[in-house]
Amino acid sequence: MKRQFFVLAAALVLAACTSYPKLETTVPYTIKNGTIILDEPQREPGQESALGMTCEPIDTVRVGFVGLGMRGGDAVRRYTYIEGVKITALCDLLPERVAQSNSYLESRGWPKAAEYSGEEGWKALCESDDVDLVYICTPWLLHTPVSLYAMEHGKHVACEVPSMMNIRDCWDIINTCEKTRRHFMMLENCCYDFYEMTALNMAQKGVFGEVYHVEGAYIHNLDPFWKAYQGNWRLEYNQKFRGDNYPTHGIGPVCQVLNIHRGDKMNVLVAMDTKPLHGAEVARENMGVEEFANGDHTVSLIRTEKGHQIEIHHNVYAARPYSRMYQLTGDKGFANKYPYPQFAVAPDPERFANREEFVALLQEYKHPIIAEYEAKAREVGGHGGMDYIMDSRLIHCLRGGLPLDQDVYDAAEWCCVNELSRISTEAGSMPVRVPDFTRGGWNVKDGLAFAE
Ligand SMILES: NC(=O)c1ccc[n+]([C@@H]2O[C@H](COP(=O)([O-])OP(=O)(O)OC[C@H]3O[C@@H](n4cnc5c(N)ncnc54)[C@H](O)[C@@H]3O)[C@@H](O)[C@H]2O)c1
Repeated sequence: MKRQFFVLAAALVLAACTSYPKLETTVPYTIKNGTIILDEPQREPGQESALGMTCEPIDTVRVGFVGLGMRGGDAVRRYTYIEGVKITALCDLLPERVAQSNSYLESRGWPKAAEYSGEEGWKALCESDDVDLVYICTPWLLHTPVSLYAMEHGKHVACEVPSMMNIRDCWDIINTCEKTRRHFMMLENCCYDFYEMTALNMAQKGVFGEVYHVEGAYIHNLDPFWKAYQGNWRLEYNQKFRGDNYPTHGIGPVCQVLNIHRGDKMNVLVAMDTKPLHGAEVARENMGVEEFANGDHTVSLIRTEKGHQIEIHHNVYAARPYSRMYQLTGDKGFANKYPYPQFAVAPDPERFANREEFVALLQEYKHPIIAEYEAKAREVGGHGGMDYIMDSRLIHCLRGGLPLDQDVYDAAEWCCVNELSRISTEAGSMPVRVPDFTRGGWNVKDGLAFAE
C-alpha cells in the first residue's frame, strides 16, 4: 500500500514537471522531448518546389509600387535610375502620397503612372494587366495579403522586410509561390552591402576556413522614427508582440554564408528577452498605454544541421550606436563589421589586419556583383548604395529569366525567427524546432550561387 502511494505520488510530480504552458501559435504544435514542434504541411498535389525556379524573361519590367511612405517613396526614386523598367502603377492608402510620387516621376521626365489609393486600392493594382512586378513597402501586416493577391493575379512579388510575420504567413506565401510559379523575393538589402558581399566571397573561397559561429543583429534606436510611421503601425505591432520581429537584416547575410537550404538547414531555436524598458516608456508617451509586450533586447540562438550556430539580436530601443553585428567565426579566420569593419585571417588570425592589409583584402575579394554595380550604386544611394544593387540584381534576373538571388525559402527562413522567438520566450526559452520550408530539398543545392 505504502509502495503504491509512492508510485502514484512520483507519477503526479512527473506529470506536474512535464505540464507545459499553453502557447498561442499560428499553426498547431506539439511538444516532444522538451522541444516545441510546429506542424509542417505536406506539399499539395500539383504543387512543385520553387528551388532554382526560373520564369519567362521580361524585356521591360513593368513595376507597380504599393506603399509610398519613407521606404516606398525612395524605392520609386531609385527605380528611375534602373535600366529596363517602366513604373506603371503607384498605390498608397493616402492619395496625396501617390500624387507626390507621380510628380516626382514627371520631374525626372518619366511618364505618369496609374494611380490607386484607399484601403484596398492595391487589389486593383494587382489585377492590372500593365504590371509584371508588385513592389510592396507597406506596414508589416499588409505584406502577406498583398503578396498572395499579387501572385494569384500572375504577378511577381518583391516585398519589404520582414515579408512574413508568422509561420502561417510563411507557408501561405510558399504554397502560393509553388502553385502559381511566380517569383517571390524579400527585399533584404543588407545582403548587398559592400562589406557583407566581400566577406561572403571570402567565406566562399575558404579564407575563414569552416565558418561555424555567426552573429547578426538589428540594433537601432528608433526614437527619431516612431512618430513618422503612418498611423503608428510599428509601435502598435511591438506593443502587442514579444520576440524578434525584425530579424532579417541580421540573419539574412549570415545565412547566406552558412548556405542555409543549400547544404545546411536551421534545426532548433532558443530565445530570451529582457523586460520592456525604454519600449514601454515610448508606448506610454506615444500611445498612453501601460502594457508593452516587446522586450528591449531579444537574443535568438539557432543550431544548424551541420552543427553550426547563429546568434541574432534585436533591439530598437537602445541608447547606443547602431549595429548589425555581422560577425563570422571560422576555424581559420574571423570577420567583424561593427563598430569597425575588420578581418583577422591567416597567417595570423589572432591579430586584426592593419589598414593596408584590410584595404588589400577588400580589393582582392571584391564580389563580382559589387564590382559591377559599385560606381552607380554610390551615386544613386539608398543606404549607401546597397538598395540600388538589390534592385538592379532583381531586375537583371527578371529580365534574363534567371533564378533570383534570394528565393521564397530564404524569405521564410529569415522571417520565421519572428514567431519562433516569440514562442520560445513565452515558453520560458524552450527550444523550438525550425520548420524545413523546403520540405526535404535543403540539401539539393550545393552552396549559394548568384545567376549571371
Ligand atoms: N529594408 C530596409 O532597410 C527598410 C527600411 C525602412 C523600412 N523598411 C520596411 O518598409 C516597409 C515600410 O516602412 P516605412 O518606413 O516606409 O513606413 P511608412 O509608414 O513610412 O510607410 C508605409 C506606407 O504604407 C501606406 N499604407 C498603409 N496602408 C496601406 C494600404 N492599405 N494600401 C496601400 N498603402 C498603405 C502608408 O500610407 C504609408 O505611406 C516596412 O515593411 C518596413 O519594415 C525596410
